[in-house]
This record gives sequence, structure tokens and C-alpha cells, in this order.
Amino acid sequence: APFDTVIHGGTIVTAAESFRGDIALKDGRIAAIAESIAGGERRIDAGGRLVMPGGIEAHCHIAQESSSGVMSADDYYTGSVSAAFGGNSCFVPFAAQHRGQSIADVLATYDGRAAPNSVLDYSYHLIVSDPTPTVLHEELPRAFARGITSFKVFMTYDLMNVGDAGLLDILTVAKAHGALTMVHAENNDMVKWMNRRLADAGLTAPKYHAVSRPELAEEEAIHRAVSLAKLVDAPLFVVHVSTRGGAAIVARERDAGTRLFAETCPQYLAFTRADLDRPGMEGAKYICSPPLRDGETQAALWGHVARGTFDSVSSDHAPYRFDAGGKFLNGADAPYPKIANGMPGIAARLPYLFSEGVVAGRIDLQQFAALSAGNAARIFGLSSKGSLMPGHDADIAIWDPEERRVVTLEDQHDAMDYTPFDGMTLTGWPVTVLSRGAVVVHEGRLEAARGQGRFVARQPSGTGRMRGHRAPEFEALRAEGHEIAP
Ligand code: URP
Ligand code: ZN
Ligand code: ZN
Ligand code: ZN
Repeated sequence: APFDTVIHGGTIVTAAESFRGDIALKDGRIAAIAESIAGGERRIDAGGRLVMPGGIEAHCHIAQESSSGVMSADDYYTGSVSAAFGGNSCFVPFAAQHRGQSIADVLATYDGRAAPNSVLDYSYHLIVSDPTPTVLHEELPRAFARGITSFKVFMTYDLMNVGDAGLLDILTVAKAHGALTMVHAENNDMVKWMNRRLADAGLTAPKYHAVSRPELAEEEAIHRAVSLAKLVDAPLFVVHVSTRGGAAIVARERDAGTRLFAETCPQYLAFTRADLDRPGMEGAKYICSPPLRDGETQAALWGHVARGTFDSVSSDHAPYRFDAGGKFLNGADAPYPKIANGMPGIAARLPYLFSEGVVAGRIDLQQFAALSAGNAARIFGLSSKGSLMPGHDADIAIWDPEERRVVTLEDQHDAMDYTPFDGMTLTGWPVTVLSRGAVVVHEGRLEAARGQGRFVARQPSGTGRMRGHRAPEFEALRAEGHEIAP
């Protein structure tokens, strides 16, 4: 047969339009898109369904130790399976350098975790916590050369943050190679100052987590990160924007042409800080950083999603179980600063965004395709993924836009013992997911083989928005003949 698989009778969703048609797949790629295609060793009926680019999950923590040493509950098998059940064909977890580790060792460790286990194609964003000269000038270029074209830094957490000078150094190296710097922006000293006062007053229940990390801490840090990026004229991606002020800075800078990208996450759209005040220690399930905000912020963030301030809506899946091996590594009644940070949601991200975004009328299908896959592919250099075009990888998610279902823990298919989305009724669910032509999930059943996913070497990242190029301060001095390091 000329084609391996034909998906027929569905409504095909591209970045530009939606139309009835068939898609033929061959050797892992999209071979043809036409009104009607005959043949195919396997024919998948998509009547009444949407045929969309498979989701790309660009922010998730899989088989990753937190800075305090807790291992995430999901490994590359359960993490990728859960992602697939949530409509994703590809994911980009973090490979995290902790202080003193060489990047080569970090990447070898993550290769060992991912390659034998992932059912989806994957890459890593490299977390840099120790930007020594060797790391900056030898190890980051080597990581870039093997297709890891985004580096993430923290402005918060004592054990991870690199300081402003470290951020400038990483931005500079990233710019020189065509890599994109991602930043977790919260003012570390503000948070520590708040923590000390709350501790002195004996206020340590989960709900004080939100008090300890005020909106101002994020807004200030986003402004500072953007300023540092502009100083060296490097592109920047702000992860998990959770505040009105932060989103406003992003919107304003993008209008001005700054090469700035940003995401928000479903938890900031779906939950509020009131969830941290659930009975007993239940609030710990909602501890993530930055923290959940209030209803007004939620509404403002949805407005920014609809207006295009955000390039993607990512899960920030950070799975720590509601037990001593996860959230409560420091005891069942630990004060909030000693409870593991993070919420799970890799399977819920896209059903939530579809239901509350598309079905609720806040965004259209083209925006959904961009926010779920297309923009991440473009920004992070996944050039063969993220859109349905002949020649592209056959990364496809088939959705039933009318299925109405209550979220349960079981259908997350992850290694967690809770889902914050439990009991929510959502309309529109992925039913079949393919990654590079292989059916991973079909009609709600797993078909994939462990380890079938491949590492994807990425193209340069962050090169999409070149408007508003800003002359760095050093240019004039270099023009006068001074030698200043790039
Ligand atoms: O609370 C969160 N988001 N935990 C994961 C680590 C991070 O900050 O990205
Ligand atoms: Zn057909
Ligand atoms: Zn973060
Ligand atoms: Zn994260």
C-alpha cells in the first residue's frame, strides 16, 4: 500500500483554517492531505471528529529531582503515557543541573531515563543552576550542538537561582548560539523576607504559601528579567506567568517588539488561592510556585490568553504525590515552605483548554492549535512538528469535540494519587493520538511500546520575533575600536 495510515472523514484543523478532509501518513510523516484519499494499511475513521496537531507539552517535570532532592512521581514512561492520553504527541521536560554537576553528566543521566521509556518523541530544556566559565563556554555550546536549544534559569529558590549576573551570562551565551533562555521569575529575597515574618507569626498552613509569594514578587522579577534580556539583546521566554502585572509587562513589551515569549498554565486559569485553604492539609495539593491567585487575576489571564499575550498554555506538570514520598517529605504537617512545590496536570492541560477555551467561546480552534502545539514548535525549534502539513512528522491528535466527561484520577494515567481537576466536567476529549505516525493511544486504549519515542534534536530557538532589534550598549564602544567580549 502506498500509505501506512489514512485518517479519513474528519475536520482537519491547521493554524490557518479548518476543513473536511483525509490525511495520509507514510514512514512517520504526513504524506498527503486531500478531500478524499483511498487506501492505507490502516484506516482510522475520524467522522465527526477534529484532526489536530498533536499537542506539544513544553513545560513539565519528568523523572526530575527537585532542588531539595525529591524525585517526581512520573518517570518517562508514565509521564509520556499520561501526556499522550491528554492529546500530546511530543513533550519537552527539563534536564536539571544541580550545583556542582557537569552538563554532560546531567544529559547522560536524562538520556538514560528517557530513551528506554518514553512513548512520545521528546527533547529537554536544560536547567542551568551553576553557570561556571566551563559550563558557559564549553558545556552549553556542546548541549546546543546536540540540539538542546533552550536553557532555563531560576530567579528564585536558594539552591537554583543564578543571580542577575548569572542570568546575563547565560542570556549572552544563548544569544550567541541561537538558544532561548527561559526564566522562572520570582524575587527570591522578597519571598524569603515574607517567609521569615510568617514563620515568626506562626502562620505556616498551606494557605500562607500564597501570601508568601506575592504578585509583586513575580511582576518585579519579570520586569527585571526582561530588562536583563534587553540589555544584551537576547530573546527570553517567561514561564508560568500567573499575575495581571506580569502579563501586562509581557503584552506591553511584545507590542514594542521585544523578542519576548511567554506561557501561562491551566492551574492559574482553573483554581484560586482559596483552594489552598481546603480542610486539613488538602491545600497542599494546590501548592505550586508561583502560587494560585484570585478570581480577578484568573479573568485577566484568560483575557491575555484570548488576546495572544501568551504563546502557549503549558501544564508545568510537577507531580509530587500526596504522601511522605512526595508533598510531605518533611512530615505530614510540615510548614508550607517545606512542602514539595508543584501540581500535576499533563493529561488535563489540553482537555481543560479545549473545554474552557474553545467550547466556552474564549478562543477559536486555530488559537487552540497554536497554544497547544504550533507556537511551541516554532519557538523551541521543533521544526518538523506542531502543524499538519505534508512533510511534517505525523504527530496528530484526533478529538471528539462533543464528548462530555468528568475528570477522574484513573484517566490521567500518571503515577499520581490525586488530580486537582478531579470532578470537573469537561467537553471535548482526545480519543486517538499518533507520534511520528505510530498510534500511541486509540479510542482510549494504549497501543504504544515503551521506548518507542525518540530524542528530537531541535533547531535554534527563539528566533521567531526579530522586530524591534535593540542596539546593545556595547555596540557604540566596539565601533570606536574597544574590544569588549561578546
Ligand atoms: O511549583 C512548581 N512549579 N514546581 C516545579 C518547579 C518550578 O518552579 O518550575
Ligand atoms: Zn475518507
Ligand atoms: Zn518554575
Ligand atoms: Zn515548572
